[in-house]
Parts: sequence; structure tokens; C-alpha cells
Amino acid sequence: MAIQKVGVVGCGLMGSGIVQVCAQAGYDVTVREIDDAALAKGLGRIDKFLQGGVDKGKMTAEQKAAVLGKIKGTTKLADLGGCDLVIEAAVENIAAKHEVFAALDAACGPETIYASNTSSLSITEMAAKTKRPARVVGLHFFNPVPLMQLVEVVRTPMTDAAVLAEVDAFAQKLPKTVVSAQDTPGFVVNRLLVPYILDAIRVYEQGLASKEDIDNGMKLGCGHPMGPLTLLDFVGLDTTLYIAEIMFDEFKEPRFAPPPLLKRMVLAGWHGRKSGRGFYDWSSGQPR
Ligand code: CAA
Repeated sequence: MAIQKVGVVGCGLMGSGIVQVCAQAGYDVTVREIDDAALAKGLGRIDKFLQGGVDKGKMTAEQKAAVLGKIKGTTKLADLGGCDLVIEAAVENIAAKHEVFAALDAACGPETIYASNTSSLSITEMAAKTKRPARVVGLHFFNPVPLMQLVEVVRTPMTDAAVLAEVDAFAQKLPKTVVSAQDTPGFVVNRLLVPYILDAIRVYEQGLASKEDIDNGMKLGCGHPMGPLTLLDFVGLDTTLYIAEIMFDEFKEPRFAPPPLLKRMVLAGWHGRKSGRGFYDWSSGQPR
């Protein structure tokens, strides 16, 4: 069975990017948000990104309209019933994910594949509670989804090899490069990225270098597109703390332990770019 119709649960930052790349690859996409306001916000984000592409001369207005024509919004999970693949990109909370998959089990046929875009929660735990554990995978995209070329395809001990092959083929059609990962906290990329970002915080916390020097060091010395503290502001300090806590809880290794400064900044509400302040001041839209 080739995947033709795609459902996406959640139209936030990640969900809207996933919807966009699927529609751009020619899939019919139905996206579900919890209410009309959240749906309008997510669809507006897609419209804005595509318009940016038109303004940059990367696509025509007709191509933009064709992509938007592939996308249908809904507030009902039952409307994802006819999909071949449903990608869950809802809030990072295991109870909420179980609820979504239970509702999908009532709406979808037995062949529908479920994928979760979680960056930290266990795919095995999600799969085990569904009626189709062999047809559940992780599909971990990177932010900003339309620009980042990678997706991690995550298998559990229960995943059917044929399902993995179908999802791999789907991801390559987006087109994304696939990294195959096992279901362990952080998969491959965050297993490497999170300790690196936490170490950058420790270097700053210990007064070894200024934040600008830490960022310039990795940008100009190692060719990274942005330094670790700027990247942290993009990912979100709250999100990074959440992921680090899950990884530390599983591995009990000091390199995954969130530094006290990160915890204090999150408690202060300094969540990064989205809150206007993180390691940098984003109130003007640019880091200061
Ligand atoms: N439509 C079409 N193309 C667009 C576009 C749009 N609306 N906006 C930008 N682009 C294109 C640009 O034209 C440009 O293309 P070319 O290379 O062909 O010129 C390209 O996208 C890059 O855009 P910009 O030059 O405007 O931006 P940039 O050079 O500042 O790069 C970035 C932006 C790609 C985000 C870069 O800063 C980057 O790679 N940052 C790191 C991001 C990262 O690490 N993400 C992963 C976070 S971790 C995560 O997500 C997982 C997790 O679980 C925590």
C-alpha cells in the first residue's frame, strides 16, 4: 500500500511545517487542531512561509495556491479516518499522545500507519497502547521543517519491517534524508545535540566565556549555522529542559543533567525567542 493521504495532528510550529512539506510533495493532507483559532494560526504560518518563497522567487503564486489547495483543516480527529499515515505533532505529553492515538484507533482502518514527531517521549510506550503496535513509528522532523533536510525514522522492537520501508519511502519523497534510529531517548540527533547545548550553558555558567564568544566559537570555528546558545533560544529553553530531564532520567549520566542556570531561566519564564527572552533579548525580533 503506497501512502497517499496524510493526516497531521497539531498545526503548531512543527505540525504546520510537516503539513507544508507533505502538501508540497503532492500529498493530500488533513490537519487537525483543537479549535478554529489554533487552526487559523497554523494555516496562516504555512501561508506566510509559502508567500516568502514566492517573494524570493522560489515558487510562483499559482504553485503556492496549488500547495494550499492540498491542505484541509479540521478540529475533529475523526476526519483523519481516511488517511494512510497520521503524523502526530501535538503537545509533548504522554497522556495527551495516548488520548490522540486512542481516538485515532476508533476512527482509522487497521492499515493506517501512525507516526509521532516526538523528540523525547517513548515511541514504544505510545505504540503499546494502540491497537496496531506493529504499525507505529517515530518520524522526527527538525525545525524549521521546510528548510531542514533531515528526518529521523524511529523503530520500536514491535515495528513491522514493511511499515518502516513504507515510511522511509514516504520521507524520501518529501524530500528528506532519513536517519534510522532505535527508540531510545533523544534518538540519534538529540542524543548528540542536547549534551552539546547543556555543555555550552555550563561553559557560560562557570564564567569561562561570554555568550557571544561561545556562539562565535562554534559558528566561526566549527562552521555551525548558529551557535549553541542562539540555537537553544530557537529550540526553547523549556523544551530543552524537558528533553534533558527525560534523557537524564533514563541514562543517569551527568552529561544529560540540566544545569541549574537552565532550570532558573525556565522558572523565570525566559523560554527563548518565543517568549521574547532567553540567552538573548528577542523583543525586537533579532537577538541582542
Ligand atoms: N521559502 C522558500 N525558501 C526559503 C524561505 C521560504 N519562505 N525562507 C528561507 N528560504 C531559503 C533561503 O532562500 C535559503 O536558500 P538558499 O540556501 O538556496 O539561498 C535558505 O532557505 C536559508 O534561508 P536564509 O538564508 O534566509 O536563512 P539562514 O541562512 O539564516 O538559515 C536556517 C536559516 C536554515 C534555519 C539556519 O539558521 C540553520 O540551519 N539553523 C540551525 C537550525 C537547527 O539546528 N535546527 C534544528 C533544531 S533541533 C530540532 O529541531 C529538534 C529537536 O528535537 C529539538
